[in-house]
Amino acid sequence: MNTMPSPALMFEHLSTAVLCFDPKLHLQAINPAGEALLELSAKKLHGIHALTLFPDCKCLLTPPTTPHPVTEHGLRLNVLGHHFIMVDCTITSIWSAEDQQGSAFLVELVNIDQQLRLTREESLLLQHQATQNLLRGMAHEIKNPLGGLRGAAQLLARELPENQREYTEIIIGEADRLQNLLNRMLGSHTPPQKEWINVHKVLCRVRQIVLTEAGDNVTFLADYDPSLPDIFVDPDQLHQVLLNIMRNAIQAMENQGHLILRTRIERNLSLSHPQTKSKQYRLAVRIDIQDDGPGIEETMLEQIFYPMVTGRAEGTGLGLSIVQNLIHRNNGMIQCRSEPGETVFTVFLPIEKATSKQGK
Ligand SMILES: Nc1ncnc2c1ncn2[C@@H]1O[C@H](COP(=O)(O)OP(=O)(O)OP(=O)(O)O)[C@@H](O)[C@H]1O
Ligand SMILES: [Mg+2]
Repeated sequence: MNTMPSPALMFEHLSTAVLCFDPKLHLQAINPAGEALLELSAKKLHGIHALTLFPDCKCLLTPPTTPHPVTEHGLRLNVLGHHFIMVDCTITSIWSAEDQQGSAFLVELVNIDQQLRLTREESLLLQHQATQNLLRGMAHEIKNPLGGLRGAAQLLARELPENQREYTEIIIGEADRLQNLLNRMLGSHTPPQKEWINVHKVLCRVRQIVLTEAGDNVTFLADYDPSLPDIFVDPDQLHQVLLNIMRNAIQAMENQGHLILRTRIERNLSLSHPQTKSKQYRLAVRIDIQDDGPGIEETMLEQIFYPMVTGRAEGTGLGLSIVQNLIHRNNGMIQCRSEPGETVFTVFLPIEKATSKQGK
């Protein structure tokens, strides 16, 4: 005969993280979903104060005095010693009718980190696209008169004796330089020529080029997952992406330091796309390019994928904007995190078709 599982067993099997605190707000019980969220065992977490976990939770300063649940949205949860994640938190006082007071507090947590990340990325992508369209429009408009200017300088040069062509040569040279810049701003319009490729082969080729440019004071370390499957992308575009990121790293390290190339498989990943919003993929390839250079300042970090944002005197600030554009054309996503001594650019590229649409 089938019997219903006990409430304790149900608590164990809930996919929502649930924590139980005593009236003085010390943790007494936590289910496995909670342990997974906090990345620590129940034993290690036992007795910890609620405000250590939720330093901003107003409800816990004056815990509810009725049995009705109270929800706080977008709270920081301190994943001890590592980082903070954002959660929605519902607190219910387990009410004792006899004493007319709460005998314990039940806290349910929903991780909203990924949802927030996607919303933020989507809004950044839209802003980014608007800026890029504006720049493309401007670049297009400048190209035509520039062509005329260069042509006129060439005609003029032909009329002049050789020893008087110094100024026309400057005009032609500068017009060419501007033309190159505008071509980069306009970006490539050809659709990606996708084929099944091995990521490690592309990484190896790019590494060789960068190694030649950087010299002996840069050490490359490869941490590859050998079981990585092939991916369906444009090999030349992936080459350009990796080359730009590695060149930036070498420039930031001033040709001296360590560059780690890491590959991994990611499962169940949501990737943001500017046109189609976020999509869920079952499998994706992750490529990390990590350097131990000076890092990127926080204010700069938010803008590095925008065109014309540069921290280098001789930079045009187009490299990463082109990189992001190429990755989106191949259905991928790029992220960056940085602190002094550790900057990591991460490229995600899906292995399969999207399984479902998320968000809007
Ligand atoms: N690995 C890194 N470490 C530190 N700073 C970086 C790193 N990668 C990029 N940056 C910063 O981001 C800025 C933007 O990079 P981006 O490639 O878009 O332009 P750029 O390198 O300045 O010019 P270019 O158009 O020639 O590539 C850089 O100028 C640099 O300040
Ligand atoms: Mg660059």
